Amino acid sequence: MATAAPDSKAIVLITGANRGIGFEIAKKLATSPDKPYHIILSSRHHSSVESAITTLRALPNLHSSTTLEPLPLDLTSDTSISSAAAHISTKHNHLDILVHNAAISFSSLSTHVTDPHAPQRERENWHAIFDTNLIGPALLTDALLPLLSASPQPERKIVFVSSKLGSIAYTFDEVNSRHIDLNDATRFTEYSASKAALNLYAKHLAWRLEHSHGEGGGSGRGKSEGEGGDKKGGEEKKGKWKVNVVCPGYTKTGLNNYQGTQEPSEAAKIVVRLVQEEGGETGTFRDKDGIVPW
Ligand SMILES: NC(=O)c1ccc[n+]([C@@H]2O[C@H](COP(=O)([O-])OP(=O)(O)OC[C@H]3O[C@@H](n4cnc5c(N)ncnc54)[C@H](OP(=O)(O)O)[C@@H]3O)[C@@H](O)[C@H]2O)c1
Repeated sequence: MATAAPDSKAIVLITGANRGIGFEIAKKLATSPDKPYHIILSSRHHSSVESAITTLRALPNLHSSTTLEPLPLDLTSDTSISSAAAHISTKHNHLDILVHNAAISFSSLSTHVTDPHAPQRERENWHAIFDTNLIGPALLTDALLPLLSASPQPERKIVFVSSKLGSIAYTFDEVNSRHIDLNDATRFTEYSASKAALNLYAKHLAWRLEHSHGEGGGSGRGKSEGEGGDKKGGEEKKGKWKVNVVCPGYTKTGLNNYQGTQEPSEAAKIVVRLVQEEGGETGTFRDKDGIVPW
């Protein structure tokens, strides 16, 4: 049975790790006193992820065995996604934890939404937001499933950093104390729709992986060599799949022009908890207060 060597570090890929919440997730993992990780920080911009890594390496409380690696990755580019997967395959042969953190909202677009209540929106904005927030993560997941399947860890984890703005329940349930105020949230219409779609995608993925009958790694789109959960003859038993969705809370980052109410270091806590949690459920949507209704 393939198990992780006692000293083997879990390999974690974090998308959008050069700034904001993604950087703080990397920082918390890198300074976790409990265990070391090999953290792959990805970003579209090589220089900014290099400077993020320089900052992390200078931390006095960096775990002495933790290692950091930059990886260029643009979620809107098929070439970039396949190069990133090929790089991890060549260098590491497997991946243990995938944190889908990167996303954009209106504030990242070249054609800004100046009036949040404007009834009409631009096609290019819809394309950009869905490409980055839904299609890119889905295609990246597919590209990395063979590597996640090859993980020797007892749990192979995929964490989707989503938003409660994508909660259909909170949007429609007006008597819920956490009901989403559309007067404010309509600035984020395209973003909210992309997160609702991402949540649905994550739920489907969790189900597909949980029900892959030992052939884990099957994305449901056809299985590739090495994706199998049990190796030929069943001599190798693979770990459990954990696929979960998390809302980090309203946070001061570029995503909302720094209007959020908490610091990125606070937001990263719930994501890191899911990354480090052993046991627990798959297919959930959570925030710091517990389960978020879909
Ligand atoms: N901030 C909040 O209030 C809040 C609330 C709920 C959920 N969230 C979620 O938290 C996550 C992190 O957001 P954040 O607030 O930290 O935002 P942020 O500071 O704007 O960071 C977004 C990250 O995504 C990366 N990115 C953007 N487009 C990309 C692309 N095409 N390919 C690869 N990476 C790309 C950015 O890298 P570049 O440098 O390459 O642009 C950046 O690292 C997102 O999933 C967001 O939806 C945030």
